[in-house]
Amino acid sequence: MATLFKDVYISDGSRTIAERVHLLVSKGRIASITDARENPPSADKIISGRGKMAVIPGFVNAHTHAAMVLLRGLGEDAPLMEWLKNKIWPVEDKLTPEYIYWGTLSAMLEMLATGTTCFADMYFEMEGVADAVLSAGMKAALCRGITAGEPGKIERSLQNNIELAEKYHGREGLITVQLGPHAPYTVPMEAMKSITEAAKSHGLGVHFHFLETKGERDNLGMTPSEYLEASGLDSVPYANLAHSVWLDPDTELHENISLIHCPCSNLKLGSGIMPLPSWLDRDVPVALGTDGASSNNRLDMWEEMRTAAILHKGASMNPVCVPAVDALRMATYEGARAFGFSQKGMIREGWAADLVLVNLDSPHYIGVNGENLAAYLVYAGSSGDIAGTMVNGRWLYRNGEYPTLDREEIMQKSHEARKAITE
Ligand code: NI
Repeated sequence: MATLFKDVYISDGSRTIAERVHLLVSKGRIASITDARENPPSADKIISGRGKMAVIPGFVNAHTHAAMVLLRGLGEDAPLMEWLKNKIWPVEDKLTPEYIYWGTLSAMLEMLATGTTCFADMYFEMEGVADAVLSAGMKAALCRGITAGEPGKIERSLQNNIELAEKYHGREGLITVQLGPHAPYTVPMEAMKSITEAAKSHGLGVHFHFLETKGERDNLGMTPSEYLEASGLDSVPYANLAHSVWLDPDTELHENISLIHCPCSNLKLGSGIMPLPSWLDRDVPVALGTDGASSNNRLDMWEEMRTAAILHKGASMNPVCVPAVDALRMATYEGARAFGFSQKGMIREGWAADLVLVNLDSPHYIGVNGENLAAYLVYAGSSGDIAGTMVNGRWLYRNGEYPTLDREEIMQKSHEARKAITE
């Protein structure tokens, strides 16, 4: 089925000026982009924008723990390690595969309504997460969080992560799989080496928490460069380093490394502010993520994009850094690229029709035009402006409804899971 977005603005992370076009979606891809002053192509379904709607790429949440929506609100206003040890890890022990499945679906309701088409998830019981992703028709980059514990735990988790890759990597074009060592403070160096060796031999990327807090940097025992080399992270097919708040900005990074900025989670946990402008100045790829809903507490990439764009202007007293278009690119294309999705995250012919339809017919868009649309979206807009979210040309969220998901059942099962793990 072909869907035509007739006379809409298109904006993405490569356009400083938004064009007014007819955008045709067919067979899951962007089939054509033509000038809005020309006659539109024919289609089965027509969405008439009349210049009052915009189409942007779907957001890619490059770091989250989706099922942690079930732990939202537990242990607020506490430092990271205290929060993890006292509030999160004891409750996580009660999570079952079923709870994680429903929690992930519940997170997907939030993500789709706020424009996310793809999320990079690190958790456990990931087969259920993969099944939830496939049943919804979303895209996801999945890894099993690997942490030390009783003897043999790391080996078993790594084996489980490799099996996840064998079963789901590339599945229906919706899923990529990475290996997921949790962090330097939960995975000993020797185990890191065996995980990166496995990544190399299986051709997999790695998703890793790195230098989220100052204490973690103080206890690393070596420079970040030395750590990346000693662990083998700088020679795996690709490594995506979540947070990197305390990664020294003069660190030389190999080209296989991308950083994932989680500004709201870092702010809320008091972890600090990543030196983003330094990385952007050096063309180091940086994507954006929310982190889990129990540390953010939202899964709203639009807010993450806006925060990334304004936070560093204030922190560095430089209103020129992190322009709106850069923030939009980090929230969309950079995450897709970092996690192995090709032709996703820009509005281009032939690329995946993973799109967000934005309603511009609101007071806060008065004065919007092609020249200023990106800035309006990033600074004035919010996920409340979203009229629909599409993955591979299929609506997964449209005007408050979820065509592929049973919202009531997901809500009920998630309420039950929350009750079971917290009582
Ligand atoms: Ni995290």
